[in-house]
Amino acid sequence: MSRRRVAILISGRGSNMVSLIEAARAGDYPAEIALVLSNRPDAAGLDWAREAGISTCVIDHKAHPTREDFEHAMDAALASHAIDFICLAGFMRVLTEGFVERWSGQMVNIHPSLLPLFRGTQTHRRALEEGVLVHGCTVHFVVPELDAGPIIAQAVVPVVPGDTQDSLAARVIVQEHKLYPAALRMICDGTARLENGKVVFSHGWNADGALHSPS
Ligand code: GRF
Repeated sequence: MSRRRVAILISGRGSNMVSLIEAARAGDYPAEIALVLSNRPDAAGLDWAREAGISTCVIDHKAHPTREDFEHAMDAALASHAIDFICLAGFMRVLTEGFVERWSGQMVNIHPSLLPLFRGTQTHRRALEEGVLVHGCTVHFVVPELDAGPIIAQAVVPVVPGDTQDSLAARVIVQEHKLYPAALRMICDGTARLENGKVVFSHGWNADGALHSPS
C-alpha cells in the first residue's frame, strides 16, 4: 500500500492535528503525516508535532506582503516535502482561489457545524441562538467559497438544555477527533472520492438508521 503524503495546516492548539497524527501511526493507515505547517510561530500544535518527531514548518503570513506571496511560500514548503494531500485543521487564513484550485480534490477541512448550517466562525454560539437540537461537525473538500465544499463525513451531537458555547464545543470536539481520521482514511484508501464536484462512496448505504434528538 502506498501511503498518501499529508500536510496538516494549523494556526493554533492543533487538537485535530494530534488525532490525525495518532491515527496515522497505525500500520494499515493509508496516509502518513509528512509535514505540519503553521502560519503562526506560536501555534501550540507545533510543539506537540516537534515532540512527536514530525517535520514542522512555520510560514508567517505577516512576513509576506500579499496573500499570493504567502501561498507561494507554502507551495514551496509543500513541494519540498513531496506533499500530495492537505488537511486544514484550525488553519485561520482564507486561501485564494488560485491556491484552492491548485489543490482541488487534494485538500480537506474540518468545520465545527453540520454544514451547510453555520458557515464561518462562532458556530456554537449561533447554534445555541438558533435553538437547533442537533449540532456537529463536517469534513469537506475545500472549494474557493468558504465552508461550501462537497461533504465527505459528518458527526451529530445533541444540544441539551443548559448547554453553553463551551459545553457544546467540548461535545463537538470529541466527535471531530474521531471524524477527521475516519474521513481521511476513506479518502486515502479510495472509499470516498470527488467526482464532478460531488463525493462518491464505493460502498452502499444502509438507510434504515435515523438519529432523533431528543431521543
Ligand atoms: C476545530 O473546532 C475545527 O473544527 C475548526 O477549528 C478548530 C481547531 O481546533 N476548523 P484544533 O486546533 O484542531 O484544536
